[in-house]
Amino acid sequence: MSFRPVLLLALLLVAPVYAVEFDQRERATIASHGPWPPPPVLDDSNRVSGNKAAIRFGEMLFFDHALGGDSRMSCASCHDPGRAFTDGRTTGFGRTRLARNTTSLLNLAGNRWFGWGGENDSLWAQSIRPILALEEMASTPLLVKKIVLGRDRYREYYRDAFSVAAADEDSEILLVNVGKALAAYQETLVSPRSPFDDFRDALLAGDEAAMAQYPRSAQRGLKLFIGEGRCSVCHLGPRFSNGEFENVGIPFQVPGGVDPGRYQGIQKLLANPYNRLGPFNDGNAQDNAVATRSLRPDDRNRGRFRVPGLRDLVETAPYMHDGSLGTLDDVVRHYSELDDELAGAGADRFLRPLRLDDRQVEDLTAFLRSLSAY
Ligand code: HEC
Ligand code: HEC
Repeated sequence: MSFRPVLLLALLLVAPVYAVEFDQRERATIASHGPWPPPPVLDDSNRVSGNKAAIRFGEMLFFDHALGGDSRMSCASCHDPGRAFTDGRTTGFGRTRLARNTTSLLNLAGNRWFGWGGENDSLWAQSIRPILALEEMASTPLLVKKIVLGRDRYREYYRDAFSVAAADEDSEILLVNVGKALAAYQETLVSPRSPFDDFRDALLAGDEAAMAQYPRSAQRGLKLFIGEGRCSVCHLGPRFSNGEFENVGIPFQVPGGVDPGRYQGIQKLLANPYNRLGPFNDGNAQDNAVATRSLRPDDRNRGRFRVPGLRDLVETAPYMHDGSLGTLDDVVRHYSELDDELAGAGADRFLRPLRLDDRQVEDLTAFLRSLSAY
């Protein structure tokens, strides 16, 4: 027998010994990262959440360059469906360069806070923001009304969704309703299933053959992610985010100052007339604005940013609120080599430098990649 077949045979014999084992607790954590896709949830602050005419209206608006006024820019100019609704840039670029990385719009339904600093408490309010923002679309309620009135289809959808003729509508209410239609459309955007989801389901079903389809390296990375790496403390659940705000030691200097993150996010949210405490909330503010009502600006929130979900990362580089990390390898090395001083200066208590070796970096990266579709 030549050397190669012997080696191959030996590998085949020992391979099962190296199969990654998961104990009861690990299995429970893995189970908690699914099922995928999640059941649809409606937003009770938005009466057209789930409404078919509103979804179609919102989809057309999303791709309409007229909405951007003379900058001829649509939502899709920055949120490109071919890149999981991001733009591939370090930070967004509208009329001028923005301070932050463009977020994906997948899996937003049911989230509590929106934007890297949680500047909004509903998807519809977050959707009004870019329309008015001077550095983005720089439009006005009157301009938006003109656009809606200018197209037969828009007028039709508007009446179907809101039971009023757009022409008779007050322009501010119309703007809010445009935000609600855009939100109804975005709520339908969900990540496709990933190799991780297949592995999770196979593990729960005890289907060894299906489990073996998932690369060993990703399995070892998964074990690190939920174990030693403590990543799932913040990146939890089917979306891999607790939806709250943390500081993982990404410097928050921006040209001309600092980005105060959640600290300023709370101030902006409380000052926003379109928040859930205001008159445009369609639901019962006693129930659905509890979280907003209890917010207070607190110094601890300086430099905290929203924990992003981790699906579709293969398509959404670069990473972090300022787009400062170009690859998944860079992100994993960041957590591995975390600057002790930065960590001590306010980064979250769960974090300590992981000091991973090269193979562990590769494994964790392979796991993160496995959260994207094939
Ligand atoms: C000029 C580029 C640009 C345009 C145009 C733009 N966005 Fe964004 N979008 C961004 C950036 C950058 C962020 C992150 C903002 C932040 O956190 O401060 C963002 C964030 C969001 C979020 C928050 C997602 C989350 O995870 O919380 C939503 C929702 C959103 N945009 C929807 C829209 C809609 C709807 C439109 C069109 C009306 C639009 N955007 C137009 C750049 C853009
Ligand atoms: C203390 C909570 C916490 C822990 C623990 C944590 N993260 Fe994060 N993660 C965050 C926050 C917050 C951000 C965004 C930080 C920013 O932009 O300033 C982030 C960003 C990321 C991103 C970038 C995603 C994007 O779309 O930009 C990846 C990838 C990531 N984390 C992976 C991991 C891995 C792998 C681990 C474990 C080694 C881990 N995280 C541990 C909170 C955490």
